[in-house]
Amino acid sequence: MANTENAIGFFDSGVGGTSIWKEVLALLPQENTIYLADSKNAPYGNKSTNKIIDLCVKNTNFLLQKKCKLIVVACNTATTNAIDYLRANYTVPFIGIEPAIKPAALLTKTKTIGILATKGTLNSSLFEKTSKSLKNDITIIETIGKGLVELIESGKLNSKEMTNLLNTYLQPMLKNNIDSLVLGCTHYPYLIPQIRTIVGDKIKIIDSGEAVAKQTKNILTENNLLNTTTKIAKHQLYSNMNTDVLKALVNTTKLKNSNIIDQNF
Ligand code: DGL
Repeated sequence: MANTENAIGFFDSGVGGTSIWKEVLALLPQENTIYLADSKNAPYGNKSTNKIIDLCVKNTNFLLQKKCKLIVVACNTATTNAIDYLRANYTVPFIGIEPAIKPAALLTKTKTIGILATKGTLNSSLFEKTSKSLKNDITIIETIGKGLVELIESGKLNSKEMTNLLNTYLQPMLKNNIDSLVLGCTHYPYLIPQIRTIVGDKIKIIDSGEAVAKQTKNILTENNLLNTTTKIAKHQLYSNMNTDVLKALVNTTKLKNSNIIDQNF
């Protein structure tokens, strides 16, 4: 059985999964963590399912070598394409993240919800299954956020190019009377300030970060894996690309015991 002081592992195609990592840290401050940003291979969203599975296997093996006790697949594209494979082939518990279209369908009054996600997520069979399970009076406007992950990964979060792309993707949704917008990619919560400027205050913006943190806590509890020590938690963040982008998004100065590691994997 894993030691409760072993870290929770996280991986994403890049820096976006830190939006999930932050939610988990907020709920479980005593947990040690290891975050893997596979930025060299971003974006995953345009890759085939087999290629995404191969990358997820590589990331999982890296985290297991570091003795992670649970792995959060902090990427919608990786979850929707590879979580079944991972669960069938490893014994470590996995937490996945899927676009929150079910909660959005319960909240919508206009019966029209928008979802912004990668091609890989929107085309996955898992996403298709979830969207088919919604009541058929709900209309989902699906839009591929082409180029958004690339801009975030290259540090152009607040660029004119970003505003232009977001306008292109969001204006048609507004014209179709959405009242809820699901962010189906873990990079996108970093775009919320710009998205708010475009969609205004009345649209609900829904992401899955908090739900994933709660589920992580539940699964750790069920498996007797919660870290109950009072030691200061240690956080290691690995990136195989430009660590400046990771540093800018993750304000490690607030964390007492953390480091960002540049490593080729
Ligand atoms: N953060 C990933 C997700 O949630 C980005 C996918 C990509 O690399 O295309 O889907």
